[in-house]
Amino acid sequence: MSTIASRLAEKRAAALAGGGQRRVDAQHAKGKLTARERLSVLFDKDTFREWDMFVEHDCTDFGMQDNRIPGDGVVIGYGQINGRLTFAFSQDFTVLGGSLSAAHAKKIAKVMDHSMRVGAPIIGINDSGGARIQEGVASLGGYADVFQKNILASGVVPQISLIMGPCAGGAVYSPAMTDFIFMVRDSSYMFVTGPDVVKTVTHETVTQEELGGAGTHTSKSSVADCAFDNDIETLEQVRRFMSFMPQNNREAVPNLPTSDAADRLCPALDTLVPENPNLPYDITELIRTVCDEQDFFELQADFAGNIIIGLGRINGETVGFVANQPMVLAGCLDINASRKAARFVRFCDAFSIPIVTFVDVPGFLPGTAQEYGGIIKHGAKLLFAYGEATVPKITIITRKAYGGAYDVMASKHLRGDINYAWPSAEIAVMGPKGAVEIIFRADKNDPEKIEQRTEEYREKFANPFVAGSLGFIDDVIDPHTTRAHLSMDLAMLRSKTLENPWKKHDNIPL
Ligand code: HXC
Repeated sequence: MSTIASRLAEKRAAALAGGGQRRVDAQHAKGKLTARERLSVLFDKDTFREWDMFVEHDCTDFGMQDNRIPGDGVVIGYGQINGRLTFAFSQDFTVLGGSLSAAHAKKIAKVMDHSMRVGAPIIGINDSGGARIQEGVASLGGYADVFQKNILASGVVPQISLIMGPCAGGAVYSPAMTDFIFMVRDSSYMFVTGPDVVKTVTHETVTQEELGGAGTHTSKSSVADCAFDNDIETLEQVRRFMSFMPQNNREAVPNLPTSDAADRLCPALDTLVPENPNLPYDITELIRTVCDEQDFFELQADFAGNIIIGLGRINGETVGFVANQPMVLAGCLDINASRKAARFVRFCDAFSIPIVTFVDVPGFLPGTAQEYGGIIKHGAKLLFAYGEATVPKITIITRKAYGGAYDVMASKHLRGDINYAWPSAEIAVMGPKGAVEIIFRADKNDPEKIEQRTEEYREKFANPFVAGSLGFIDDVIDPHTTRAHLSMDLAMLRSKTLENPWKKHDNIPL
């Protein structure tokens, strides 16, 4: 018995030592924590339970029989984050560069299966040199097994990826299929082929950071949702983010007790929209103001700034916010904004998160770049996402809601449950100036007449009354009552039931 105990202690010590002190020091020297250190920051104190610490690879090629470290480069298990059950795997770069062997892949698959069976989120911490080169094709099979599990878990449990080191080649496709990706600035990167291959094939000279660093993926490619300065900040922000996440697709959103009154009035909102309809204002002020304790977790803040997406809470419960941002491109919908918001709307719908939409949109962005880039197909993504969503949908038009973009932004016609307008709302087929230039083309050389016609058009259509008379909006509300209205309506809609017709799956314009 004592031999077993001492062997166990030995094996545990070997597993906990990872690739040894030299490699742990190298990891720290890069400003990175080790796999287990990361888990200890991510999970509530002393709640993480590790499995498969004694798993080893069975490769005997290239002297690998003498290169076995218990655990084989990935730590898996479960614990609590903010008191709620969560599963995780964390790749250990100190063990063979965190490379993925068949045994390593099986461990990831095991923890994913558990998260699905139990119905709790799974967080993957990626820090790996990719496929274990000594194992070759066995490791490719392991990746594919993980991919398949990512696909089946999509829309069932929230899947979150943290990129905290290298993530290259086909390995990028597991995080790519999860719901959210968080990166660490300067120490993480993701690319399908690295700078050397790029140089050979396209003759471009590019650094790892430029090709696939956090800056690239949060501002150019939109592959990642957020970036933070270091491991600790990233893990702490992920803890905060998880407080908004439901456990699975069958459970209601979490409810975090708040002392922020549900009917709190927000007088500052009465002066948010400028008198001059051409002046911008910051829509995130509106979102923050209506959230409990002004706590809004914005996603993809550095990409497609003309639309804002993120999570907040009202009356303790998670809400997804989508809002046109008049400060960027006047809040127009374009390809990137449509893609960004569509994926978020679908995430909210998959996990029963009500969607609040703030609308100030002058239309779709014109131009050859947009048309050649397929704005028709990309714009349709957002339209489709809103139209198929069955979660509670509340829409508030703060100012412009013009043309097709009015329809797209969670209008009544797309089964918006409650649609409000502020008194400053202008709901029309297009802006007054553009409309007059078309209808009264004969007067185009008479600026005075055009001015007069524009005023007439503004008087007639640039207000919420025509839409109100048609029942397209349910009420015109004072801006300072917005949070109070949202609180009451979200409570009313909690028991909403709405189903789409049976189908194998839809065919959203991808
Ligand atoms: C086995 C690996 C490894 C790998 C790194 N190591 N990557 N061992 N398989 N894929 C080992 C190194 O030998 C080294 O061992 C230790 O990990 C740390 O690596 P370093 O190179 O010293 O670290 P660093 O300088 O930080 O460079 C990190 C790196 C580099 C950029 C990731 O290691 C690298 O280029 N690795 C190979 C990447 C790669 O080509 N992977 C296969 C891609 S194909 P010692 O003993 O010295 O500490 C792929 C296909 C997936 O992934 C397809 C899925 C569909």
